[in-house]
Amino acid sequence: MTTAEGATRIVDRLLRPEVRAFVEYAAPEPVEAIAARYGFDPATVLKLDQNENPYGCSPRVQAALASFDQYHIYPDPLARATRTALAEYVGFPPAWIAFGNGSDELIELLLRLTLALGDRAIICTPTFAYYDTAIAAAGGVPLDIPRGDAFQVDVDAVLAAVDARTRVIFVASPNNPTGTVTPVEDVVRLLSAGALVVVDEAYHEFAGQTVAPLVRSHENLVVLRTFSKWAGLAGLRAGYGIMSPHLVSTIYRIKPPYSVNAAAEVAVRASLADRAHLAETIAAVRAERDRLGARLMDLLFLRPVPSAANFILCQLTRGDASLLRQRLEARGILVRYYRTDRLRNSIRFSVGRPEHNDRLLLAIGEIARQEGWL
Ligand SMILES: Cc1ncc(COP(=O)(O)O)c(C=O)c1O
Repeated sequence: MTTAEGATRIVDRLLRPEVRAFVEYAAPEPVEAIAARYGFDPATVLKLDQNENPYGCSPRVQAALASFDQYHIYPDPLARATRTALAEYVGFPPAWIAFGNGSDELIELLLRLTLALGDRAIICTPTFAYYDTAIAAAGGVPLDIPRGDAFQVDVDAVLAAVDARTRVIFVASPNNPTGTVTPVEDVVRLLSAGALVVVDEAYHEFAGQTVAPLVRSHENLVVLRTFSKWAGLAGLRAGYGIMSPHLVSTIYRIKPPYSVNAAAEVAVRASLADRAHLAETIAAVRAERDRLGARLMDLLFLRPVPSAANFILCQLTRGDASLLRQRLEARGILVRYYRTDRLRNSIRFSVGRPEHNDRLLLAIGEIARQEGWL
């Protein structure tokens, strides 16, 4: 059949049946499109919607990428030089580190290695949305175990839910979008269930806490990290996992050999060589997170959740979060809006530079006064 409609029907017959129920990722609108809609200069838009680093990457990354002259050569499928550089940073030998195209790729690979059709993976909601998609895409069934009142992992409920078909338990710590850290003791209890426990420490550098040392004694623990947030490399896609050498080599059996590009590797090594600079930007973000959190408390219609990451989630106790998001966008400030059960009437914004946060606070105050929420 040659019609577009006919072609769709043929493809539908070829697709795995469960794929038909999947929904497309709600991709954020490009800054340029938003700026064009409101008639702004895109450079003035304040992007606080994806937990990115307001200080950008290290200047050494720009220099290293500009002088790199091997773009025509395939990268090393085992990323040996980069894993060696990472080994020094994380305190584990290279054989304990898998390097991927963002931590998203490692999430996907771990699920493809562990889930047979219909196997289960536990997620502690509200949490990072991609777990759900990746579990379903791997043929698994996501099981939501809601977090408690302070967004802490409900360890008893997770342990009670583990059954013979449960392969993986995901714990983001600090969690996105709540910023909540899971205590080491809770992770130890989760490990006792025997499933693969994936502790996603995408925001580790902003929190300063890690469960990585436990990887040495627990073969079923994986700690995921990324360069997207602390190192400002979200656009280059670089993430890694710390896990037993056996699991690392199993990952490399199925990983597309060239999924991580040469530029990402160059950038990661340049970032690791400029840790003092990055540490200053992390300290600045942490200080601003605390200042912003305190100032938000003063706005009585907002309830900020204490965060160990580089973003803050706030529930509106008066007013309408969707309207607030819209009004902020009209002023060139992009934030994330949530409306699911636990995150009803909530917004999340990344912590910016001091001047960004001042602009955000001013705008929120003005909008709230105009709408009568104060
Ligand atoms: C908890 C968590 N894990 C993983 C990721 C994805 O990281 P990457 O950019 O390395 O794929 C994010 C990104 O927002 C995240 O919040």
